[in-house]
Amino acid sequence: MTTLVTGAGLLGRLIARQLVEQGERVLLADVRRPPPRELDGLPLELCDVTDWEGLCGLIKRNGVRSIAHTAAMLTPAIHRDPLAGVRVNVMGTAHVLEAARRFELGRVVIASSTTVMYSAFSSLPFEPIGEDFTYRIVSERPGSIYAVTKVAGEHLALAYAQLHGVDAVVLRIGAVLGVGAEAASSVPGQMIECLLQAGRAGKPARFENPNLLWGGQEEFVDARDCAAAHVAALHAKAPMQRIYNIGTGRAHTFEELLEMVRRHYPKLGVVDLQLPAGGFSGFPHQRPAASDVSAARRELQFRAAYSLQDTIEHLAAIQGHRDQEGEPGA
Ligand SMILES: NC(=O)c1ccc[n+]([C@@H]2O[C@H](COP(=O)([O-])OP(=O)(O)OC[C@H]3O[C@@H](n4cnc5c(N)ncnc54)[C@H](O)[C@@H]3O)[C@@H](O)[C@H]2O)c1
Repeated sequence: MTTLVTGAGLLGRLIARQLVEQGERVLLADVRRPPPRELDGLPLELCDVTDWEGLCGLIKRNGVRSIAHTAAMLTPAIHRDPLAGVRVNVMGTAHVLEAARRFELGRVVIASSTTVMYSAFSSLPFEPIGEDFTYRIVSERPGSIYAVTKVAGEHLALAYAQLHGVDAVVLRIGAVLGVGAEAASSVPGQMIECLLQAGRAGKPARFENPNLLWGGQEEFVDARDCAAAHVAALHAKAPMQRIYNIGTGRAHTFEELLEMVRRHYPKLGVVDLQLPAGGFSGFPHQRPAASDVSAARRELQFRAAYSLQDTIEHLAAIQGHRDQEGEPGA
């Protein structure tokens, strides 16, 4: 029985690695092949999730019985090519769910994002934000094309579960921090890269893109925890709620994060630092609170293992190793 992990990016590879370590058979599928060092021996087939026939062929050939669907275009890539983003994120997710229906697969875990809730930040109370928060469907509609595609993916998953019995579970993931060739495909990845690179170079950080900063607080989550959450969701016995916040349940200001990076690079400064009045990733409102992560604890037995400080220490250490090895682009 093989678990297909779509997307061999930051999260996909970590999920596949954790599954292999638990003795499971996995197959990664991506439109492009990551560098061999990043793939580290994990099996991968080239496959575009927008190619329905190709996806079905891959599932049949490999005896796939469950799927962790992480393949997607993230905010910076969608900004450059919105239509491709809609095609990959919406049709790709629909293909995965439809394949699960046709081939009567087991669990399908869909990676969503806490950005689906960002538009409601102006009206949510200052208390942990549950998955079933209230949304004004016009004035608080999803605030980016990325968030639109993620809302669509969530609704498709719930509809396939309700109408067609597909065993879909959605993980609504906070801002992910990790390392790898693709870490900078995401807004949080670009933000932490900017700080750590400047720290290593002994130069002040310069944020050309103001959307990488945030006013108020934001919730970050370690990529290793996100992978563990996918594994927990693949194995969970009775995930009744079907949609789960994946985070630490703690939010941090930019200054707090900067202080944590300064424990490694004490002289690190930021050029012309101006924090926006709004929230992360260019969203207009500041986050009122972190996510309520109790449903994931209760139904998935998942609890984040790493604090933001742990994550920053891990990332700084990895970058240090890469520097020592003289890895290009490290
Ligand atoms: N990184 C974050 O901050 C973050 C936050 C919340 C949610 N998520 C979600 O988690 C999932 C994984 O994110 P990630 O950080 O690993 O991103 P990533 O960019 O590292 O990986 C995504 C992978 O999908 C692949 N891909 C793109 N189009 C494809 C297609 N048509 N067919 C097959 N593969 C395709 C890319 O080549 C890439 O390897 C995504 O669904 C993302 O929306 C990420």
